[in-house]
Amino acid sequence: MPALEWNHSYWGKDYSWSEGGDEWSVTWGGSEAQWFGSLYPRLHRMIPARRILEIAPGRGRWTQYLIPMCSAFIGIDIAESCVVECTKRFANVAHAGFIQNDGTSLASVPDASFDFVFSFDSLVHAELDVMQRYIPQIVQKLAPGGKAFLHHSNFAVCDDGGQQPPHGRAASVSGEIIADLVKQSGGRMLVSELINWGSIDTIDCLSTFARGDDPGPEHVRLTNPRYMEEAALIHDFQSYYSKLT
Ligand SMILES: C[S@@+](CC[C@H](N)C(=O)[O-])C[C@H]1O[C@@H](n2cnc3c(N)ncnc32)[C@H](O)[C@@H]1O
Repeated sequence: MPALEWNHSYWGKDYSWSEGGDEWSVTWGGSEAQWFGSLYPRLHRMIPARRILEIAPGRGRWTQYLIPMCSAFIGIDIAESCVVECTKRFANVAHAGFIQNDGTSLASVPDASFDFVFSFDSLVHAELDVMQRYIPQIVQKLAPGGKAFLHHSNFAVCDDGGQQPPHGRAASVSGEIIADLVKQSGGRMLVSELINWGSIDTIDCLSTFARGDDPGPEHVRLTNPRYMEEAALIHDFQSYYSKLT
């Protein structure tokens, strides 16, 4: 059960960041292949966007693709070392800034101002107490027409009694719990895609949502136990194109 303090000390001090996060993209054949083969197809109606907020960018694995898609970018991470490294890595980008937070507060960024809020491969480790703090603030930070795309745990509905969550997944979060939180926070759910990770169990969820006052289609719920098959196809066939010079 990853508590806030675990996230703070593990990612901030204990983890080696041997490849700056690219080590987690090996299954897809690299970060570029994962971005263009798996993430971008899900995001292409939401970006480019004028102002982007990324929650928990780590060392910037996705930041490098989000920055060229906007005219103002802010990354917020609980780990000071990640903020320092991203600040160095993107030092030549005038429209990007990085801020450390306490793992729950978005008070340092303005309300109603972001056209896209993104987080991938980070909030899967955030338990319900953290998500209960983040979701209302994310809805509050969205500009009119803005959208949020969050990758988080779905393990709460996979737990068959005492099983240790694999891959450091949060035990207390599910797609439906997040959808309820979004609605209670005045947001409007667009897509909940339950995805498998590692095994065939759909232990994760990709939640896409908007402000409640925005018109939009009905909430679509997808159960995708083939997300890892998609990764394998990207690895076996698409990733070679990302190595072309
Ligand atoms: C597994 S790394 C992933 C980083 C990046 N998203 C990527 O995919 O390469 C997890 C990141 O989430 C950050 N993090 C964890 N919990 C957080 C929280 N509650 N608020 C902000 N950052 C958090 C950690 O400091 C770390 O940078």
